[in-house]
Amino acid sequence: MNFPGQVKIVEVGPRDGLQNEAVTVPAEIKVQLVEKLADAGLPVIEVGAFVSPKWVPQMATSGEVFRQITRRDGIGYPMLVPNLKGLELAHAAGVREIALFAATTETFSQKNTNCSIAESIDRFNAVIDAALRLDIRVRGYISCVLGCPYEGEVSMDTVLMLAEKMFDRGCYEVSLGDTIGVGTAGQAQALVEKLARHVPVPQLAAHFHDTYGQALANIHAVMQCGIAVIDSSVAGLGGCPYAKGATGNVATEDVVYMLQGMGIDTGVDMDKLLEAGRFISDFLGREPVSRAATALLRKQAG
Ligand code: HMG
Ligand code: MG
Repeated sequence: MNFPGQVKIVEVGPRDGLQNEAVTVPAEIKVQLVEKLADAGLPVIEVGAFVSPKWVPQMATSGEVFRQITRRDGIGYPMLVPNLKGLELAHAAGVREIALFAATTETFSQKNTNCSIAESIDRFNAVIDAALRLDIRVRGYISCVLGCPYEGEVSMDTVLMLAEKMFDRGCYEVSLGDTIGVGTAGQAQALVEKLARHVPVPQLAAHFHDTYGQALANIHAVMQCGIAVIDSSVAGLGGCPYAKGATGNVATEDVVYMLQGMGIDTGVDMDKLLEAGRFISDFLGREPVSRAATALLRKQAG
């Protein structure tokens, strides 16, 4: 079996993780979380989102958080942006990288961004063009690549169409979102194999939520197809406000544990990662949603 020697982990906990929390997390806690994740050696940390605060109130402090963190050399700090207004706010805050998003079904697109798929393409094209003119790097997300909470099965052709459009317009990476964590390993592999005939696999990322407990298996499967970028969320935080019942992303601790065991380099320090997960879980008043973190913390406690 062919696995990458090295994997880049994109930590999405401060954005994808926290966006769904009902309790307002103060900006200073978010800042401390980002700093702890940076201490742990994560190479990319998605800090927040410039989306409508009416739609996702938890992200309303994202600009404040971004301005307060100490940006370190060698770490990417993307911010999620849905439209030109978000780009404007990101640019004003000094953001050097954004992530935009589109979905594979009309219903999810409407629920998440109040527009059709076609309108979302026009929107992201405009954002990509404007961002690149400002020398801001752009990452793309495609939501519901293995299933939609409203429409069920999705078409791989739509995933391919969106991925091609994002790459053609200038995204440097496209992340495949199993937003509701319904996919299984064979499906995930079939999707990547299909995409591989048209888009560069090293520039694809796996963004798997763990609702059905399939995320690690799916990551293991798609790494065999050449995927070497994995999105994950410390302590398994998260969910999408427009995908009811969807749980968090795969936990970063679980991914790092698996990759370390396979001899795959991530550059992440597990002890410091555990500290970051403990910190935010303590604030939220619950245990980390990570089997590896729970086991390792119990072992540490003796
Ligand atoms: P809309 O209501 O159609 O937008 O929402 P609008 O242009 O009519 O504006 C409405 C109000 O929002 C106006 O304010 C705008 O100024 C303001 P008002 O005049 O009423 O006071 N507004 C903004 N404010 C701040 N930042 C902005 C912005 N844009 C407009 N960027 C919109 C359209 C796209 C804005 C809205 O639907 C939205 O914000 N959606 C984001 C939803 C979201 O964040 N979802 C979760 C993230 S995606 C996800 O989790 C999936 C992912 O993880 C991958 C996966 O797992 O699949 C990425
Ligand atoms: Mg997500």
